[in-house]
Amino acid sequence: MIQTRPTAPIAGQKPGTSGLRKKTRVFMEPGYLENFIQATWNAIGGVAGKTLVLGGDGRFFNDRAAQVILKMAAASGAARVIVGQNALLSTPAASNLIRQRGADGGIILSASHNPGGETEDFGVKYNAANGGPAPESITAKIHAESERLTEYRILDAPDRDLGTLGETRLGEMTVEVVDPVADYLALMKTLFDFDAIRALLASGFRLRFDAMSAITGPYAKAILEDTLGAAPGSVVNATPLPDFGGHHPDPNPVWAKALMDTMFGADAPDFGAASDGDGDRNMIVGRGVYVTPSDSLAVLAANAHLAPGYAGGLKGVARSMPTSGAVDRVAQARGMDCYATPTGWKFFGNLLDAGRASLCGEESAGSGSDHVREKDGLWAVLLWLNILAVRRQSVTEIMTDHWATFGRNYYSRHDYEGIDTDAATALMDSLRARLPDLPGTQAADLRIASAEDFAYTDPVDGSVTEAQGLQITFEGGARLVLRLSGTGTEGATLRVYLERFEDAPDRLALDPQDALAPVIAAAHALGEITPRTGRTEPDVIT
Ligand code: G1P
Ligand code: ZN
Repeated sequence: MIQTRPTAPIAGQKPGTSGLRKKTRVFMEPGYLENFIQATWNAIGGVAGKTLVLGGDGRFFNDRAAQVILKMAAASGAARVIVGQNALLSTPAASNLIRQRGADGGIILSASHNPGGETEDFGVKYNAANGGPAPESITAKIHAESERLTEYRILDAPDRDLGTLGETRLGEMTVEVVDPVADYLALMKTLFDFDAIRALLASGFRLRFDAMSAITGPYAKAILEDTLGAAPGSVVNATPLPDFGGHHPDPNPVWAKALMDTMFGADAPDFGAASDGDGDRNMIVGRGVYVTPSDSLAVLAANAHLAPGYAGGLKGVARSMPTSGAVDRVAQARGMDCYATPTGWKFFGNLLDAGRASLCGEESAGSGSDHVREKDGLWAVLLWLNILAVRRQSVTEIMTDHWATFGRNYYSRHDYEGIDTDAATALMDSLRARLPDLPGTQAADLRIASAEDFAYTDPVDGSVTEAQGLQITFEGGARLVLRLSGTGTEGATLRVYLERFEDAPDRLALDPQDALAPVIAAAHALGEITPRTGRTEPDVIT
């Protein structure tokens, strides 16, 4: 029985860097989720006759939201929804399913690395037929539709059993419940030398993967332990929990401290890794060495050809603008094109689809390739393992060798979280207004070479995206970027990205915060961070 229920627009349903993220209780308010889903259907020209993929990272409200979305898809005439068992799918696995099954698009339920639970965060994201996050042209339409909704359609039907694999009917629509891991594992087997990794793991090489009680647990267990032979227990926090066990499922040295302690402690494993809430981020740690995401991207670019899926070489590489230039140096040395895009994975889609780049990454612990249209945490772990299996060197040896070859881009990001939104906006507006006058002037001990408000012209479709972060470069090869987060749900988060290049052989092993001290001082001076925010220290340093 299809019901058409009257509704009224709800303010603020504007997708950010990665879908719509709000407090879980906001999504649980009557009609909130329904309005956003109907706005999505309207924005994509309806779902009649279409096949969609549906799944999420298992956070609180994932199961309830999935039932609502199924009933709304059925009420609007969708032909089929392919849903991960128990409504679970990691973000990269969802992207893969959309592509493998030729679906018209998909809905991913996740707020990524934001904490989960009734008092924490929830999110909904629409991905298009290429498997990637909807481009801005679509997210803008979704927002516009959300502002003029008068009704939504939903089937009045009992909830589906999503625990049993196979097909059932919901009204006229087919609901197909699939194993969330199977297709993803099959894809990974086409990219990596599983025999070589198995041999590495059989040789006494020890790894630890921290799933942070989020979605990658089942994937990592199936792939690393059951298929590749890592010792049982190598995957820790492997059961996805609605509140992620209270973890903040963001794989960085702050939130994955337990893993860091293990990897820097006595008798550390050879290799450590972690992923985030929805499985698209990754953190790589060697014994006693943390690999920054920017460096990881550069190492992957330099060594990807060692894995079968990339043996023919890379078509090009791409990074988000705030990500360090380490990968640029690899690209330059290898004669590859290198693109700098705005923050957010959606900007890589066109480059991947057009075959201009096959590897991309962000400083925020995301890397991926043209195998899907999302970043992919376990993929990065497997590529690292494949490289280690071929090179038979430690992570430390690989990093030392990399910096000796390409030089080292010291890099760090300082986050000031939960600051007053007006203060954050004023800080950015003030610096933006001063940009034209900055070149040639001094900031702390550094002289400014250039200053711009980053704008990106997509080389494939010509679309222009403006105001993507204030980028200031200094004489001598240092760089500073300031931007406001587009994924937060409370107040504003100021992100300060700091970079400085070194290639003197005796200056390749400095503490990054020491190496970056002049850039940090320049950031404080230019951003007037303390006077404007009242903060002297960042909340999170990655
Ligand atoms: C953050 C990261 C960005 C990433 C996004 C989604 O966005 O900085 O690189 O693509 O999460 O995972 P931000 O909060 O900075 O807008
Ligand atoms: Zn994520």
